[in-house]
Amino acid sequence: MVCLGNICRSPLAEGILQHKAKQAGLKWLVDSAGTSNYHIGDQPHQLSQKVAMINGIDISRQKARQFSKDDMVKFDKIYVMDSQNYQDVKVISREFWNEDRVKLLLNESHPGSNMNVPDPWFGTEDGYHKVYQLISDACEAIVHKTIQHKTTK
Ligand code: 4NP
Repeated sequence: MVCLGNICRSPLAEGILQHKAKQAGLKWLVDSAGTSNYHIGDQPHQLSQKVAMINGIDISRQKARQFSKDDMVKFDKIYVMDSQNYQDVKVISREFWNEDRVKLLLNESHPGSNMNVPDPWFGTEDGYHKVYQLISDACEAIVHKTIQHKTTK
């Protein structure tokens, strides 16, 4: 899960996907990172933590880190929050760039829409709730697709 700062959107995405995967019995390694180095080592934004907790998910132990090109090899799927993240991941990954692994997260819940998860950084708590719901729907679609695929095999 990748965004710009790794303190607002992608920590929520990490927490939500990990939670839903675990509930579904999937043993996935879920992680998140930012394309920038602005907040390395920081906890998730207080409002991301608050909104996650309201929904029963504790993301307080996460620490921001920067995306590295090795992540392109380590992870099977890389979900980016917006189209700028997509371009930045491409630049950082250099020779390891693999287009097949990288997707806009909201294309999972809104296929083909190329929608961005809006950055709630400058906004109010309401924005964080909206972002939570968008990310949650996309993560639900990812897990649902995997389970369906497994049961029809
Ligand atoms: P995020 O939000 O990419 O969802 O973590 C941001 C957090 C911090 C900044 C930008 C976006 N910043 O410029 O510091």
